[in-house]
Amino acid sequence: MSSKLKVGIIGLGSMGSTHLDIYSKINEVEVTAIADSIQSRLDGSSKAEGNISGQAEGGVVGLSSTKYLDGMELINNADIDIVDICVGTDLHFIFVEAALAKGKHVLVEKPLARNYEEAKKIIQLAKNSSFHVMSAMCLRYWPAWVFLKEAIQTNAYGKCLSLNCKRQTSFPGGAFYSDNNQCGGALLDLHVHDTDFINYCLGLPDAVFSQGYKGPSGGFDHVVTNYIYNKSDSSPIVSSEGSWTMQEGYGFNMSYTANFENGTLSYLLDEDETLKLFKSGQESESIKLKEGMGYEFEIRAFVDEILAGNSTNIDLLRQAAETIAIVEAEKTSIEACSVVSIKV
Ligand SMILES: NC(=O)c1ccc[n+]([C@@H]2O[C@H](COP(=O)([O-])OP(=O)(O)OC[C@H]3O[C@@H](n4cnc5c(N)ncnc54)[C@H](O)[C@@H]3O)[C@@H](O)[C@H]2O)c1
Repeated sequence: MSSKLKVGIIGLGSMGSTHLDIYSKINEVEVTAIADSIQSRLDGSSKAEGNISGQAEGGVVGLSSTKYLDGMELINNADIDIVDICVGTDLHFIFVEAALAKGKHVLVEKPLARNYEEAKKIIQLAKNSSFHVMSAMCLRYWPAWVFLKEAIQTNAYGKCLSLNCKRQTSFPGGAFYSDNNQCGGALLDLHVHDTDFINYCLGLPDAVFSQGYKGPSGGFDHVVTNYIYNKSDSSPIVSSEGSWTMQEGYGFNMSYTANFENGTLSYLLDEDETLKLFKSGQESESIKLKEGMGYEFEIRAFVDEILAGNSTNIDLLRQAAETIAIVEAEKTSIEACSVVSIKV
């Protein structure tokens, strides 16, 4: 009998395919069940694509996993230890609830849930369960952001004075992204990465001021936010911009600029990846980052937690939930054109 952890993946879109690739490189696990309600994704005759090079490269062809057309069937019938939930955001809560009820460990794609109410229920379920639940907030594991968090927290270049994060792409298309009720627009689906990183790195902001406009999802698909920390003498000035409304062909990029008392860090991932450090009076320095995408380090961390027998890190999960409360405040702020306090 195999001593590997058995994984079932629900949803074989761009993220499910990416997770599949990553599990295939981890010795201690094997994907023994997969589910997708689209037959061609299940049998490998069609395949979703990712927006970052290196994502969703493998496939299901040749995989001996048991296949299900409904994720609930996989949870109820498959002999697995882990359920990896990669369906659309509006379905996250019901699948997390069902998987925990069946005694499975759970990795759930970001954002944790479609709204803060559901996210709070997940926290409660996780607190009452001995099984491990993790929200796949991949930026927390992305080498350039790990570097940034450490630089801020250790004052490596002095105090951080300002941080600006940006993430822009053309509209991803497809049924899920075209329905604001399912995906929450770029505001919840894309920009949430930066909001979560800011919350994770600097703590919960006191308030936000956001402006934005609607796009092809029917929801807010372009947003610019200032995150307000009342103790402004100890917090940097923080802002971010996220968009799905770039013209076709624009591609995808994500970036940050962090200005410190004694240095400026500038990161950009588009076709290449560069992190530069600028210091007055010196040549700029290119910083070598650990190779790999955040998804790989995130899934490795999740598997390691389970192998170590660790229970859910409720603080990290709560932070992922509170990120959704911040995003909801951003939406209110856009609609009201005013500063909105964060209430959790
Ligand atoms: N971490 C990241 O950077 C990142 C990037 C993209 C997407 N995501 C998140 O991942 C999730 C999925 O996004 P995607 O781009 O892969 O979406 P997608 O629409 O391409 O894929 C979702 C898949 O789930 C399947 N599905 C839907 N209902 C099902 C059910 N009941 N049973 C089985 N299969 C079912 C669909 O057929 C589809 O193939 C979303 O929550 C999204 O926000 C995260």
